[in-house]
Amino acid sequence: MALNFRSVLVTAILASCQFANAQNPDDQAERKLTLIPLFRQIPGLQFSGKCTTAGGCVAKERSVVIDWVYHWFHTEDWLSCTTSSGVNTTLCPDQATCASNCLVQGASNYSNYGVSTSGDSLTMYQYTINEAGEAQNASPRLYLLGDDGDYEMLQLLGQELTFTVDLSTLPCGENGALYLGEMDKTGGRNEYNTGGASFGSGYCDAQCPVQVWKNGTLNTDGSGYCCNEMDILEANSRAHSFTPHPCSDTDCDRGGCGLNPYAKGYKNFYGPGGTVDTSKPFTVITQFNTDDGTTAGTMTSITRKYIQDGKLIASANPSGDLITTESCNAADGDAAAFGSLTTMGKALARGMVLTFAIWNDAGQFMNWLDAGEQGPCSATEGNPALIAQNHPLTHVIFSNIRWGDIGSTFSASGSDPTTTTSTSAPTTTSSPAPTQSQWGQCDGIGWSGPKTCASPYKCTKLND
Ligand SMILES: *[C@@H]1O[C@H](CO)[C@@H](O)[C@H](O)[C@H]1NC(C)=O
Ligand SMILES: *[C@@H]1O[C@H](CO)[C@@H](O)[C@H](O)[C@H]1NC(C)=O
Ligand SMILES: *[C@@H]1O[C@H](CO)[C@@H](O)[C@H](O)[C@H]1NC(C)=O
Repeated sequence: MALNFRSVLVTAILASCQFANAQNPDDQAERKLTLIPLFRQIPGLQFSGKCTTAGGCVAKERSVVIDWVYHWFHTEDWLSCTTSSGVNTTLCPDQATCASNCLVQGASNYSNYGVSTSGDSLTMYQYTINEAGEAQNASPRLYLLGDDGDYEMLQLLGQELTFTVDLSTLPCGENGALYLGEMDKTGGRNEYNTGGASFGSGYCDAQCPVQVWKNGTLNTDGSGYCCNEMDILEANSRAHSFTPHPCSDTDCDRGGCGLNPYAKGYKNFYGPGGTVDTSKPFTVITQFNTDDGTTAGTMTSITRKYIQDGKLIASANPSGDLITTESCNAADGDAAAFGSLTTMGKALARGMVLTFAIWNDAGQFMNWLDAGEQGPCSATEGNPALIAQNHPLTHVIFSNIRWGDIGSTFSASGSDPTTTTSTSAPTTTSSPAPTQSQWGQCDGIGWSGPKTCASPYKCTKLND
């Protein structure tokens, strides 16, 4: 089955056509009232989409969008609306004023965020390397969009999700993550945030993060934003886990009842040269099972399977790689209070947003994932400063993502099920006009568009 990413258009805005006297128009009526895009260019991702037992997998074109906070918020005069610690409170004293003063710039070149797509795979780097050869933290986070410009809401209760991952270059302390969050389908699109999901807004998770923007709008009361989260894979080459995090209206099961084979005593199951050999790509299957086998039942267990070199790998644990309501509640004293797998199953039935991330952890060096009882890593080797120095090219590749009826996304022998439909042809972008209009980009690193401005404007450098 095909899952092809289209390449992306783009460059950061580095210079734009302005009046020749360098005086910007001062016409208040022309100021936009909402956060809107100047350029909306998102890498395309053709997606293998739904699989059914009867019909195999049907390819669908999809795209991924980088999280909202990676975008540039600025005034029409190109002043930044954000500061290192949050927003400029002169420009953004409240939601309405902020929305009338500030625009969100479409992310224009995903390479600058360490993200690329090719064929059916998505590659995410922790660092980008600058011209001086230094590692710059990129740590991208991306969401899967539907064909309507909103998030694709995966409804996985009674279904399974399958993908292939290459995390061979992720050392101790890195986390290549693929997970589901119950974000708002529109990314909180409203009068102050007209871009919404197509600009990656609305992030929430089970740690109830307090963010500058909440659901895409300026967060003025310092509140957190909790939502149900299902961690399908949090992993590096040495350790991994999968973890349900159900929530109530006000809080979440932040620890969760994760399953990590190493922590269960199966120390050679996963790792370089292990039963699941992380020096090579492998396929991860996650099944969300209900009591009655339907997509409307109560979730009673989550099953994990792996395929490598065409073979289904038997679990090291005689009872399988399985989280049940009972095992979850036994492992995690908080789970029952949040409804455990039942609550998680209801969120999976409503639909959740597929999220891809790569990150490291200056606070805890990711010890909770891969050190002590969780994995073979030392308590200090996950220090991001060491990773940047020793593993500047660390990255994760997710590919061949598909979901559908249980048993339909892989075959017993481990090879992929038949694909019935090919993807549509990629679209192309039109070539730029020979002269650039007012405010249009007219120069910049990697810029191959028009460098001459239409009269009476001239090309003005904005920043490096
Ligand atoms: C995107 O940025 C990368 C490096 O930052 C550069 O090599 C590439 O040419 C840019 N792509 C476009 C289309 O400008
Ligand atoms: C905030 O924005 C105002 C108005 O554009 C500007 O004068 C000021 O320098 C900005 N402050 C910071 C800290 O960037
Ligand atoms: C997020 O925004 C959407 C759209 O405005 C809204 O329907 C939803 O209730 C918001 N959710 C939260 C938790 O604020």
